[in-house]
Amino acid sequence: MEAVSSDVFISDVDKERFGFKTARVVGLTSSSLPVVLDFCVREKVKLLIARSDMSDLNAVQSMEKQGFLLMDTLVYYHLRLVKHAVPADHGVVLVRPVRVGEEEEVLSVARISFRGYCGHYHADPRLDKGKCDEAYVDWARKAYVSRQPENFLVGEINGKIVSFGVLRTNSPEEGEMFLGGIHPDFQGQGIYRSFLCKGMAWCLSKKAEKMVISTQLKNIPVQKVLVKLGFEIFRGYYTCHKWFD
Ligand SMILES: CC(C)(COP(=O)(O)OP(=O)(O)OC[C@H]1O[C@@H](n2cnc3c(N)ncnc32)[C@H](O)[C@@H]1OP(=O)(O)O)[C@@H](O)C(=O)NCCC(=O)NCCS
Repeated sequence: MEAVSSDVFISDVDKERFGFKTARVVGLTSSSLPVVLDFCVREKVKLLIARSDMSDLNAVQSMEKQGFLLMDTLVYYHLRLVKHAVPADHGVVLVRPVRVGEEEEVLSVARISFRGYCGHYHADPRLDKGKCDEAYVDWARKAYVSRQPENFLVGEINGKIVSFGVLRTNSPEEGEMFLGGIHPDFQGQGIYRSFLCKGMAWCLSKKAEKMVISTQLKNIPVQKVLVKLGFEIFRGYYTCHKWFD
């Protein structure tokens, strides 16, 4: 990835996926917008994926004036683990670290659980839906390949993998479950809660005092589970796309 001033960069991952030059920027403001647009024109970028802070309406309105379209709103929740004991989990699923040789089984769960997902890729009518679906599978594949002991969890029922969740530490204080999905046939049984409980224990094992989860504002099932476990919202971003052709 090529970083330049105002933190806009060419996204190799998106270029590889969609086949054209894509740039990304997080924390776009109305004052950095002209520099970012100049960069995209100079670099012959076709698509810009820009995130601005949820509280910065000036930024998003400036983007609207330049023809950006809102694609999703990302919300961040956290839980202070020092204040909350890990709840008892009497779920229907056995949550355990993934094993060698389970890659294909896990990826098939990632593929079906993220098909037609409610993120910014799928919200853009100009992006190929099949490639949008594959974005999440690729993400899961990369996480599987670079996994550490115990950070890539799977949920097993009757010997079959029905769900997965991947954890990382963002800093010594903060852990995150950054990717997770439940096979549609097994949704609605509290499996995501079981993953969060295991994730909380994992964060504590890393001495992280806080656990973070981000999701789309319209992903109500995730937020219902988070709120019931005591997670609180603390940050959000609008994700906008601008096409230059
Ligand atoms: C989102 C997801 C992880 C939730 O996991 P789950 O174990 O199936 O969770 P549940 O189905 O038990 O739903 C949790 C809650 O949301 C509710 N819910 C489900 N769908 C809903 C909807 N469309 N509108 C409102 N509430 C909904 C459920 O009733 C439940 O609430 P309850 O406990 O009060 O009954 C799972 O549906 C999934 O994998 N989705 C696709 C991928 C994804 O979104 N991953 C997470 C990215 S952050």
